[in-house]
Amino acid sequence: MIQKCLFPAAGYGTRFLPATKAMPKEMLPILTKPLIQYGVEEAMNAGCNVMAVITGRGKRAITDHFDISYELEHQIQNSSKEVLLQEIRHIIANCTFTYTRQNEMKGLGDAILKGNVLVGKQDPFAVILADDLCVNPDGDGVLRQMIDLYNKYRCCIVAIMEVPKDEIHKYGVIEGSVLEEDVFVVSNMVEKPDNESAPSNFAIIGRYILTPDIFTVLQKTKPGKNGELQITDALCEQAKKGMVLAYKFQGKRFDCGSVEGFVEATNYFFEKENATAP
Ligand code: G1P
Repeated sequence: MIQKCLFPAAGYGTRFLPATKAMPKEMLPILTKPLIQYGVEEAMNAGCNVMAVITGRGKRAITDHFDISYELEHQIQNSSKEVLLQEIRHIIANCTFTYTRQNEMKGLGDAILKGNVLVGKQDPFAVILADDLCVNPDGDGVLRQMIDLYNKYRCCIVAIMEVPKDEIHKYGVIEGSVLEEDVFVVSNMVEKPDNESAPSNFAIIGRYILTPDIFTVLQKTKPGKNGELQITDALCEQAKKGMVLAYKFQGKRFDCGSVEGFVEATNYFFEKENATAP
């Protein structure tokens, strides 16, 4: 059972300045729901009930969002607005939120390493990058698909998707051989390679299942691309020692770390809401 999901959320969100000057980028809303809540709901639907958030300075709004606001509850009690709090109330009632801070921006690998204190040394855990908003209108969410795969193979798994060659430099990229439909055994991984030298067009997106031994590997991993500790490098090491899988997920991913992807996600959810409105 994977119960814990880690949310690295310490980044500055510079692509959304000035909106993110005093507000965490994870709190930017797609319609009326902050980005991170979509990730938390995906984790809940996959069976997780402990949400471990790596925050940083200026990110208190995240902590407050996943807590009860008594004043607000009092104000809207028995009003027509109450329904708007239904989803967040359900989350707060059913999940435990734990937090720690990443004091310096030293990369995703460093953020995950900081999460060790929250997820412990015994159990496998999930990682969601809230910037990558994933939907699957035809079935299970992406994290649930990955947990099902974990239950079969019991090793680290990264989610991948095919991207055009001229965009590959924005991602971690895998090289691997087919294990079963949509599943690859990873033989190599490179963080943000040049478009020309990328080993494939399979890009890693922000969903991971990690086994706790990744922390020992991360501790020994040297800073990589951009001088930052990269989870891609640690997983590459893991792949060489044992087994790491890459899973081509069912569904769609929006890159909400970019303005374009954010608008695309907004339009998608707006159309979806209008289509189901009475
Ligand atoms: C991170 C990872 C990268 C991955 C990407 C997915 O990069 O380092 O391997 O492909 O997330 O969104 P970032 O986008 O945080 O620079």
